[in-house]
Amino acid sequence: MYKKIKNNVDWVGFIDTELRQFHGSDFSTHEGSTYNSYLIREQKTVLIDTVYRPYSDLFVRNLEHEIDLNSIDAVVVNHGEVDHSGALVALMEKIPDVPIYCTAKGVDSLQGQYHKEWNYHVVKTGDTLDVGNGKQLVFVEMTMLHWPDSMATYLTEDNILFSNDAFGQHYASNSLFNDNCDQCALEYEALKYYANILTPFNVLVKRKLEQIIKLDLPIDIIAPSHGVIWRDDPLQIVKRYSRWCDDYQENQITIVYDTMWEGTRMLADTIAAGISAVDKDVTVKVFNIAKTDKTDMITEIFRSKMVLVGSPTVGNDMLSSVAGFLHFFKEMKMKKKKAAAFGCYGWTGEAPAKISSFLEKCGCGIISEPLRSKWNPAQKALEETSAWARQLLTY
Ligand code: FEO
Repeated sequence: MYKKIKNNVDWVGFIDTELRQFHGSDFSTHEGSTYNSYLIREQKTVLIDTVYRPYSDLFVRNLEHEIDLNSIDAVVVNHGEVDHSGALVALMEKIPDVPIYCTAKGVDSLQGQYHKEWNYHVVKTGDTLDVGNGKQLVFVEMTMLHWPDSMATYLTEDNILFSNDAFGQHYASNSLFNDNCDQCALEYEALKYYANILTPFNVLVKRKLEQIIKLDLPIDIIAPSHGVIWRDDPLQIVKRYSRWCDDYQENQITIVYDTMWEGTRMLADTIAAGISAVDKDVTVKVFNIAKTDKTDMITEIFRSKMVLVGSPTVGNDMLSSVAGFLHFFKEMKMKKKKAAAFGCYGWTGEAPAKISSFLEKCGCGIISEPLRSKWNPAQKALEETSAWARQLLTY
């Protein structure tokens, strides 16, 4: 099933409505995803990216139904990760000599994964490929957005930026365009994608956005490799990225915890109530780490100005669920989040201090001594907890 994007450019990808996990099991995709591939038919025929490996045969069959594969003059591989390059093996068996345009790191990635000596053409930022009819493809390296090999490709005259992972979302919409889908879901999925995939590279995102803006290219469409295509006010997603890469936060506090016998849960709920009682404007969200998807929690912490993390003490340490989540959080390299730790204990009570110390390593600003509460909290302990929560708002 092909869809026209503009003039002689068609979408030739795959809409994966069933996908619920991505990057193995690391990223939840509640709304599915798409693998967007694009076919440009000017005097030259050029294919941009392919689809995830399980859909190789379908992808090649669909292409063969639409065009003579031997009419393809070039394949552009914006990024070697298998969700975009997976169908290359099946395709290149049919057209083994067709040049593949990619970055030097792209060659490394493709050779490393597929062990094939294809006809690679290495490109750098500013290199072009003439596709005829007065149009050119211009290549722009997008190093670390989000892999070292990533690049974007710009089609002149039609003013389409094929941005690959950047500006994408794991959002399967059959309409394929941003003006024809659920705007709340789109906003959330774009934010979740940024929070979990691009946050570690905030500084590079900022630099790359400045570089792209300086090029002053007219952009009518931003066509990423996942999710919907930005054709209505395409620069809206660029503006969002400008905000998100700048240590983004909203007036939100997120509390995450795990609990053994409900004591730490009581602390979490009391902290949330204590904050809300004093500050009517702040959004407070509470999640049990063991019962909540980790990429959803990262998304909420990304939006937050403060994160509070709780665990009871077991084996002189925090619960493994909390340790695992904190490790994931550290990978995100978020900056300028205020943080504090809390937890119940029966005997030794090391967990809150260990959490606090780890949060510091995550790049958070610790704003309070950890809150420790011995055994299950009674009324006096809950009042102290509420007071601890209220004083957090003074920082
Ligand atoms: Fe969508 Fe980095 O692959």
